[in-house]
Amino acid sequence: MVFSAALSALVLALPILSVNALRTRRALCPDGINTAVNQACCALFPVVKDLQENLFEGECGDAAHGALRLVFHDSIGISPTLGGGGADGSIATFNETELTFPANLGIDDVLDTLGPFLFKHSNVMTPGDFIQLAGAVSLVQCPGAPRIPFFMGRAHPIAASPPGLVPDPFDSVESIMTRFGEVGFLTAEEVVAVVGGSHSVAGADDIVPNQQGVPFDQTPSVFDTQIFVDVQLRGTLFTGEGGQQGEVETAVAGTVRLQSDHLLARDSATNCAWQSFVNNQPAMATAFGQGVLKLSLLGQNQNELTDCSEVIPAALPFTGGPATLPPGLTMNDIEQACATAAFPSLATQPGPPTTVPAIPQADDS
Ligand code: HEM
Ligand SMILES: *[C@@H]1O[C@H](CO)[C@@H](O)[C@H](O)[C@H]1NC(C)=O
Repeated sequence: MVFSAALSALVLALPILSVNALRTRRALCPDGINTAVNQACCALFPVVKDLQENLFEGECGDAAHGALRLVFHDSIGISPTLGGGGADGSIATFNETELTFPANLGIDDVLDTLGPFLFKHSNVMTPGDFIQLAGAVSLVQCPGAPRIPFFMGRAHPIAASPPGLVPDPFDSVESIMTRFGEVGFLTAEEVVAVVGGSHSVAGADDIVPNQQGVPFDQTPSVFDTQIFVDVQLRGTLFTGEGGQQGEVETAVAGTVRLQSDHLLARDSATNCAWQSFVNNQPAMATAFGQGVLKLSLLGQNQNELTDCSEVIPAALPFTGGPATLPPGLTMNDIEQACATAAFPSLATQPGPPTTVPAIPQADDS
């Protein structure tokens, strides 16, 4: 019994091994420079190079942040009851419709910046593929962010997404969990990793009146867990116009906090998951990467796509240190919310209080 089971496992494993051996042989691309296991992916190398050099310019800055946000706002446009094509590029092709959705505030600037690259490379890829490729390449501009797989072959979008599918910053945690649940994000950990993780390399260009590039945490150019600390510091919810835009005054000068992030860190459904990522960088990067990959495949059949992950450059290693409290603050400034575990103990940054500088804006001319 044991022997035959082992034998059949071996017989099953052998063909898989030999197929894998074939599939890992890289061959020279027609450009005579790059090599690829799958020659169908060769055409993407110049796109990746162009994005790195001319869009992101080697920085985890505004253009990279915008590309990541675009992944979310395109992909989440699908619902089991209302329809929509998910990660299909509809936010670009049908921008005249989707940009009227209030939750897409600011996506016009992202499309202004990415659009010229999307058009330039439309001979080798569809808008849906382009948005996901740009998102995957944006992540490897950010130290500590995961290198996620990239699949190619999305069809052109056929219609705009139905309205109301992109979460708003003033949504309740219950509504955010329901919306993510509809697209297969079933646990607090999954939702918190993809929302908190992305907002680790992010800021607000629109929701703070007359200000651009207002960071969500102290380190918007590093994919780290500082966001999970900064959002857990005591903060005041706006009640006036600002509050309607989902904005929270924070203890960290120069930063702003979304009401939705504020609530995810405090609601009993998500607060322990939120806290669990503090100084848990590898776990956060892994869960976040799985979440972004899942977003990138919404509305798509992965079996019909071509795995072109090999064109995504290597991840940048994490360069930051442990998450810390801003100068002058103590653990008493943490608004403990999780009832079953204490917030991880953090050191305070030395020195006088500082103001986090604004994120320089991408040139969208
Ligand atoms: C509950 C879910 C979410 C809400 C309510 C939300 C809301 C927002 C808002 C209001 C902004 C600022 C917009 C502006 O003022 O310009 C923002 C920025 C951003 N979001 Fe989200 N977001 C959510 C989830 C996500 C997810 C899942 C991702 C990516 C996977 C993401 C990526 C980003 C990025 C990268 C930025 C920064 C853009 C920039 O700096 O230009 N967000 N988000
Ligand atoms: C936005 O929509 C307009 C009108 O349909 C279209 O001409 C343009 O190409 C779209 N922009 C992008 C980036 O797809």
